[in-house]
Amino acid sequence: MGEIFRTLGIESSCDDTCIAVVENGTRVLSSVVSSQIPVHSKYGGVVPELASREHVKNIRTVYREAMETAGVTINDIDLIGVTVGPGLLGSLLVGLSFAKALSFSSKIPLIPLNHIESHIQSAFIEFGDAIRFPAAAFVASGGHTHLFRMDKERNLFLLARTRDDAVGEAFDKLSKMLGMGYPGGPVIDKLAEEGDENRYPLPKPRMSDRSLDMSFSGIKSAMFRLIQQERDRLDIPGLAASFQKTVADILIDRIRRFGKETPFKSIILAGGVSANAYLRARFLQAFGEQTFVPSMKYATDNGAMVASLAFLKRNETPAPLHQEAFSTWILPS
Ligand code: KG4
Ligand code: ZN
Repeated sequence: MGEIFRTLGIESSCDDTCIAVVENGTRVLSSVVSSQIPVHSKYGGVVPELASREHVKNIRTVYREAMETAGVTINDIDLIGVTVGPGLLGSLLVGLSFAKALSFSSKIPLIPLNHIESHIQSAFIEFGDAIRFPAAAFVASGGHTHLFRMDKERNLFLLARTRDDAVGEAFDKLSKMLGMGYPGGPVIDKLAEEGDENRYPLPKPRMSDRSLDMSFSGIKSAMFRLIQQERDRLDIPGLAASFQKTVADILIDRIRRFGKETPFKSIILAGGVSANAYLRARFLQAFGEQTFVPSMKYATDNGAMVASLAFLKRNETPAPLHQEAFSTWILPS
């Protein structure tokens, strides 16, 4: 038996309070997620102040549960990883303050982590060495839509991003326009199962500067107009399916076009939107065995991906006690 190194991952960047204990980067001993969906659903989106308050209310319970499930005490933890950005500032500060207190009182070093990088790491929990480099990593979540190239040293290079709405945000807005609640992703995912993906052609905007950046606000406006025009005649499953097809076409197109210059050996799809059944199928169809999509429990926000990334970065300089949180933090391009 080799040496065991346990990390604790703390994630509170949006509306889920998440804590996990992971051994040697990939063996997940516990991963507790406390969802705030019932709190935000009536508003059709996350209300930042309510999210911070809920994190404050829940974080100690989530911590206790994560430690109990893992069967460990704080003395068994070698390193703490915490998300410090990007995200909702108030929400991030709850996780960060909790992490600092634990780190300081228990003399365990703390590693500050980027949320987007953690999402990419989620694929490595399950697939590890099967992922080959250079890899394309697409992170599509409620707040982010970024395509990176990842080299074998795990450096990330930003290739394209959305210029306006994130993909997940577009899912959430479509559901809201249809009066079908928050979060929209799972709702649209289900509706689309019965729909014809060619029912409503939607725009696939290109940047005038020939960059491969993406834009989803035009699609949102087109769907809004369609809903107004069609009213009772609207084929809701058809719209949901057409929207998903448009999103999949755009994401796959970007990977293909960048891949022409430097072919990718693996394609990672991560972030909450990667939970989408149609998108997963389309990526598999387009890229076959090169595709790596985390299983559902690691696709949406979770602490395991944070604990796993902390292990990877265990030799980096720990955070000082005055470590800050960042609402925006764009990874190196
Ligand atoms: O990564 P995540 O849990 O939180 C952020 O970092 O934002 O992603 C949440 C986003 C929401 O916009 C939600 O609607 C979307 O992921 N989502 C989905 C699905 N499940 C969650 N989008 C499409 N299909 C799904 N099944
Ligand atoms: Zn996320």
